[in-house]
Amino acid sequence: MAGEVIAMTGCLPPRLPPGLVAGTFVVVAVLASTLIVYRLYLSPIVRISPNEVHINDPEYFAELNSNTLKLDKYAWYYGFAAAAGSGFGTVSSDLHRIRRNALAKYFSTSNVSHLEPFIQKWVAKLCSRLKEHRQDAKVVDLSNAYRCFAQDSLKDSAASIVSSKGRTLENAKPTVLQEIYDSDLPASEKSVSRFFQEAQTLTIAGTETTSNTLSFTTFYLLSDPTKIELLKRELIDMKRDLSQPLAYFDLQKLPYLAAVITEGLRISDSVAGRLPRVNRNAAMRYKSFEIPAGTAISMSIRDIHFNESIFSSAHEFQPERWLGDAAKKQALEKFMIAFSRGPRNCIGMNLALAEMYLVIGTLFRNFDMRLFDTKEEDLTIAHDFFMPFGPSDSKGLRVKVL
Ligand code: HEM
Repeated sequence: MAGEVIAMTGCLPPRLPPGLVAGTFVVVAVLASTLIVYRLYLSPIVRISPNEVHINDPEYFAELNSNTLKLDKYAWYYGFAAAAGSGFGTVSSDLHRIRRNALAKYFSTSNVSHLEPFIQKWVAKLCSRLKEHRQDAKVVDLSNAYRCFAQDSLKDSAASIVSSKGRTLENAKPTVLQEIYDSDLPASEKSVSRFFQEAQTLTIAGTETTSNTLSFTTFYLLSDPTKIELLKRELIDMKRDLSQPLAYFDLQKLPYLAAVITEGLRISDSVAGRLPRVNRNAAMRYKSFEIPAGTAISMSIRDIHFNESIFSSAHEFQPERWLGDAAKKQALEKFMIAFSRGPRNCIGMNLALAEMYLVIGTLFRNFDMRLFDTKEEDLTIAHDFFMPFGPSDSKGLRVKVL
């Protein structure tokens, strides 16, 4: 019947041998799947859901996160935090700017220097617990010890207001939330619910990130005696009198320690989430692609920190890459984005750096440790919960204090 219709129209196609038809089909199928694989794995831009494209191009990170673009966070994605009232969870770029301004002073370099005694108090506590474990020849769960340290340090600043439950803020310590309370934000921005969300996100954002970076840095140092030796030498040369704590101001001047901290930040990849942004008002352009207004555009820090053309042997912990040639170091720093960039970058960066210098400096100056039953895979990301987590059966970083 079909043949008749075709015959009537006079368009009878030439009869192809069945083998050729099958062969053509296979070639087309292979080409199509190659194209899909290319789009998924090799193209720098991939559509990962109906509303989101993901870009893996180190050069584009600064552009997407530039201070001049007013991009929103992607509401659907950041819904995981259930904290749209916090600075971290705020979607609208305009509202975020107002909320962030009220917090920024608290986390400035100068204010963080006033917080040093609080941090030192918790470094001293960590040291005393390590000494106890040494005395009792007990294994130290350092991953959890670092979590406790990071949270205790924050407790003195961000979270103490939570216990006042908004009843009276007058008696609260000068905390980051007190800063918001005293700011000229409108009353609607000073609700108990918003204070709670701000305290909650600050506590989470400042605990897992800092402790994960400390765990990775400690693990890699303990895996390589030559690196420990270099670090210890620098710390011993800096100060022989141990009756006083090592000061952040002095630690910052140590080049090898600085390189260790920077490399720890790079390799620990402590924010694993893909950080999507949305331009509500205008289309965005990426190379030849026009991305319609309202589309979420995401990029992952990990893609950049593990890009072999920037950081050679990217999976190796090499503090040395940050030492030496100033021009080379500057070129790398452009892609060192552990704290992200632009208007939504990490507001707690100064606090985190102070904590990390003080912990790594003090611990490696005062203690000899060795790894206990810990492999790299115990720390390496197996789950992306915005922050990276290792395998479910991992016991984290464990050490013996010698
Ligand atoms: C090694 C430690 C840390 C790393 C690697 C880190 C990294 C980051 C990154 C990549 C972002 C951007 C997230 C996004 O775009 O959604 C961010 C945001 C943020 N971080 Fe951190 N962070 C660290 C420590 C801290 C600490 C100690 C605090 C708390 C005091 C903190 C509080 C925040 C907050 C509140 C935001 C949201 C900022 C905003 O949107 O205005 N972080 N952090």
